[in-house]
Amino acid sequence: MTSRGGFSDKFGFIAAAAGSAVGLGSIWKFPFEVGNNGGAAFVLVYILCCFVLCFPVMVAEVAIGRKTQKNAVGAFDVLGFKSWRIIGVLGIISGVIILSFYNVVSGWAFGYFIEILKGNFEIGNHFSEFTADITYNSFYSLFFMFMTAYIVSRGVSAGIEKATKIMMPALFIMLISLAAYALTLDYAWEGVKFYLIPDFSKITMPVIYSALGQAFFSLSLGMGALITYGSYVSKENNIIESPVIIILATVGVALIAGLMMFPFVAYNSSGDMTNIPSGPSLIFVTLPKVFESFGAILGIVVGGFFFLLLSFAALTSTVSLLEVPVAYIVDEYKTNRTATVWVTAMLIFLVGIPSMLSAGASDFFTNFITYPNASKATDFLSFVDDVANDTFLPLGGFLISVFTAYFWKKHNLSAEISSGNSSYAGSWVETLLNFAISYICPTILGILFVLTVLNRFFGIVI
Ligand code: TRP
Repeated sequence: MTSRGGFSDKFGFIAAAAGSAVGLGSIWKFPFEVGNNGGAAFVLVYILCCFVLCFPVMVAEVAIGRKTQKNAVGAFDVLGFKSWRIIGVLGIISGVIILSFYNVVSGWAFGYFIEILKGNFEIGNHFSEFTADITYNSFYSLFFMFMTAYIVSRGVSAGIEKATKIMMPALFIMLISLAAYALTLDYAWEGVKFYLIPDFSKITMPVIYSALGQAFFSLSLGMGALITYGSYVSKENNIIESPVIIILATVGVALIAGLMMFPFVAYNSSGDMTNIPSGPSLIFVTLPKVFESFGAILGIVVGGFFFLLLSFAALTSTVSLLEVPVAYIVDEYKTNRTATVWVTAMLIFLVGIPSMLSAGASDFFTNFITYPNASKATDFLSFVDDVANDTFLPLGGFLISVFTAYFWKKHNLSAEISSGNSSYAGSWVETLLNFAISYICPTILGILFVLTVLNRFFGIVI
């Protein structure tokens, strides 16, 4: 590997990519999206999106990265398609936007970890005061950005890979223990039923848009993060197998996170699931009350583990988001990596200020925009989340599939995949993947992108 650095082995890449994928998206967002969108029916649509639409795009991203050994923008230059750099540029813009608000929510998670350790269960009742408090917000998000920058500044193998190899197994253990514990609580079964019994009548078009957005977001797809990580993968690795493991791990974590969350929620409401809180409050308002009811010691242990878990999950994701612009700047402008990391991180922290102000501190950012047909205003943080999540990422996925199938061409994709996977050429996997990347992904992602924009921002429901 060149001086750009690289993952030291197959598990390094899988840990880093699964670390990027598993984050607030799977642990905080997924459970309540499931709860709001028809239970198991939503899970089915989500899983279908992951395997049918996201898997081919993921393989294409990793293949483009590994082939070119370049960042999300430079990769397209190396392949000889300068105008397709637009995919990378769009990706870097999405990455900066996502990191700017993601870091704020990560700061809340870490702040909660500290408060629970102090035994301050009351924080659940003061969620809106804390998020409206700019000192609290800026302190914790600055701290979180520091940790992210520290890991990224240490480089790909000594920083990102090493950190994720420690944090991911720890995260799995904490998650499984917490889920096992949650399932023993009173009313746990009511929560599980609410979570997993499918209601197919709830599968409407907007549910499908949400499932697709969630699939892209949770797999860190559509913005070149995996082109960047792919550029650090060795030519001996099998880049069909690793994405399968990454997707299975992400879907698995999301499913288990629901098995932990809903028993907690059901326990809190004594089994009454008709009026449960959703959105950010699910974690930040409800859970401290649950932990409090366990008594001081057990509450601090279980609650502390929970918010530590959430912080770990978020940190391995923010690291991947920061690596995308950093790799671009270092590759293209030959800058010093450490300096680039710190400057970029601090600039993105500043871009996050409107998001920090949007949970009560500033009226302008708190009631930022009212979508057509909506009864309430949407705050700035949720607005940029919607823009990045439901529109930029599927658009990125659409462009990547069109580029791969019709410009870079399928035989080049096959040749790259065959490195490290000698039985790929001529296999049924190749036939299916080529079919998906040429026809299924461009058509469905293209249509869904247009429909989502019409629906979200123009209030037109089709
Ligand atoms: N996948 C992460 C989550 O679910 C978020 C994330 C990290 C991400 N890197 C990304 C999303 C790149 C899109 C693109 O929390």
